[in-house]
Amino acid sequence: DVVRSVQPADMVCSYVRQSHALGLGHAVLCAEALVGDEPFAVLLADDLMRGVPGGPGVLQQMAQVHAQHGGSILAVQEVPLDQVNRYGIVSPRTIAAGVHQVEGLIEKPAPDKAPSNLAVIGRYVLPPEIFPILRKTTPGKNGEIQLTDALRELARKFPMYALEIQGQRYDA
Ligand code: G1P
Repeated sequence: DVVRSVQPADMVCSYVRQSHALGLGHAVLCAEALVGDEPFAVLLADDLMRGVPGGPGVLQQMAQVHAQHGGSILAVQEVPLDQVNRYGIVSPRTIAAGVHQVEGLIEKPAPDKAPSNLAVIGRYVLPPEIFPILRKTTPGKNGEIQLTDALRELARKFPMYALEIQGQRYDA
């Protein structure tokens, strides 16, 4: 019953396997044929999110910013400086309350190399233009094909925004 409640009868589920553990960027690339030529969302299942009770969910908040500004939307949260080395960290230029244009990103920087303490948490709204970039992305941090590296390239060519989400994140 719980599964039925989160999967309405008219929803179609398809899946694709990432047969080698080559990193998050590679995992997203594996979904290219399913996604096709349209914007899509990436939800990292080990980041659980809950919007503010009674308010919009996190993905809905991101969809609203996407409807307003277009481009890519990354969910971010402030983290203590001694934890920036666990996350993708954005270089932000603030354009509205809680909304920042992303001028750069770096995966898991040391605190003294971090451009801010705004950490990417596991929700992304991305355009299909990420796929050709991912195909050319070489292994980065920890020898993995990093989504963050491809996003940095994407941000050079297309608008990208970081949204400080309203709600709670539970890191599994
Ligand atoms: C991944 C991403 C990282 C992001 C994080 C959010 O890292 O590579 O940029 O900040 O998810 O949870 P992982 O936690 O898989 O090492």
